Amino acid sequence: MPRTQIEREFLRLFGNHPAVRSRAPGRVNIIGEHTDYNGGYVLPMAVDRYVEVACSADAEARIRVVSSAMGECTIGFARLEEHRGRGWMSYIAGVIHGLLARKIRIPGAQLLIESDLPVGAGLSSSAAMEVAVALALLQLADVVLERREVAQICLEAEHDFAGVPCGIMDQYAVLFGGGGNAMFLDCASQEFEKVPSIPPEFRLVLLDSGQSRQLAASGYRRRREECAEALEYLSQAGIRASSLSEVTPLALFSQQEKMPGRLFFRALHVIGENRRTIRAAAALRDGNMIALGRLMYRSHQSLAARYEVSTKELDRLVRWARNADGILGARLTGAGFGGYTVNLVKGSAVDEIVERSNTGSVVIGSGETASAWRI
Ligand code: GLA
Repeated sequence: MPRTQIEREFLRLFGNHPAVRSRAPGRVNIIGEHTDYNGGYVLPMAVDRYVEVACSADAEARIRVVSSAMGECTIGFARLEEHRGRGWMSYIAGVIHGLLARKIRIPGAQLLIESDLPVGAGLSSSAAMEVAVALALLQLADVVLERREVAQICLEAEHDFAGVPCGIMDQYAVLFGGGGNAMFLDCASQEFEKVPSIPPEFRLVLLDSGQSRQLAASGYRRRREECAEALEYLSQAGIRASSLSEVTPLALFSQQEKMPGRLFFRALHVIGENRRTIRAAAALRDGNMIALGRLMYRSHQSLAARYEVSTKELDRLVRWARNADGILGARLTGAGFGGYTVNLVKGSAVDEIVERSNTGSVVIGSGETASAWRI
């Protein structure tokens, strides 16, 4: 059987053939930003860029990892803690920790990771790596685990090992997205509905603001704290809700005069973004890209003015998009604080937009579901 590139590379590096392969897509969030950790709605889509893994078992209680993009490391099962907070390795150590903690007997292994997902573009390359590694190790151990449990393991890896207090969107999108659909996910119940993805006459184009997400980690954490403070304030005022997404606009506005302005606007963003996300899912069902584009612009406005996670460069790119022929909607994507904008573009205008934007760009289509298989 002809070997694929990653299998040949595996043989070259480790001197034996891989036994298992896996592949997990990145994701783009069409709309529903900073709602996942507030028990709200999100609308992500798996993209046609992937993290791929090839692996084989060996006798030692450790995983030897080679990543073409990141480098090499060895993660001993007895010394997982050493990898806490250590960039890309912490994601893998966290996944191994989650599997072992569930008494899943994974063997020692050699693992090669390749990826065509750009890092820092807001396509969730870290969630894709966690999922690809988890699925590969499970396949190697011959264990079938519910995907919701895999999502939980990957989320714990982010929180406890990488130190990123993210919500559940990325792991769900990577594990359950794909197959030509977008995913309308209720992060409170973790129930989701598959809705049609962007029609083929349109594309999503990411444009680089040129700013790396330097402040993203601290800014993201701060926003989470502010949301918790807003919820606490509302509950002190007698408004009962287990998350900001359960607060009605009426209840929130009843506190507008008394509540600290910053907290009021954070909550207002969450409530408004949930409504926009519900409407965006309807727009996708109807194939109404004009409506979807408008909602994306409004989402950006709210993220910039009320949630304050935009930057001058991101705002400039969105303003540019408003005046460019062929773009129906644009907004910052992911956590914000730099990174890329996501633009809804007519297929016929993509080349021109990419050229005229005069910045780094990634044109994305909808991707396949994450999977693992024996070779
Ligand atoms: C990051 C996190 C997600 C989500 C977004 C904001 O991408 O990983 O869980 O909170 O920010 O919507």
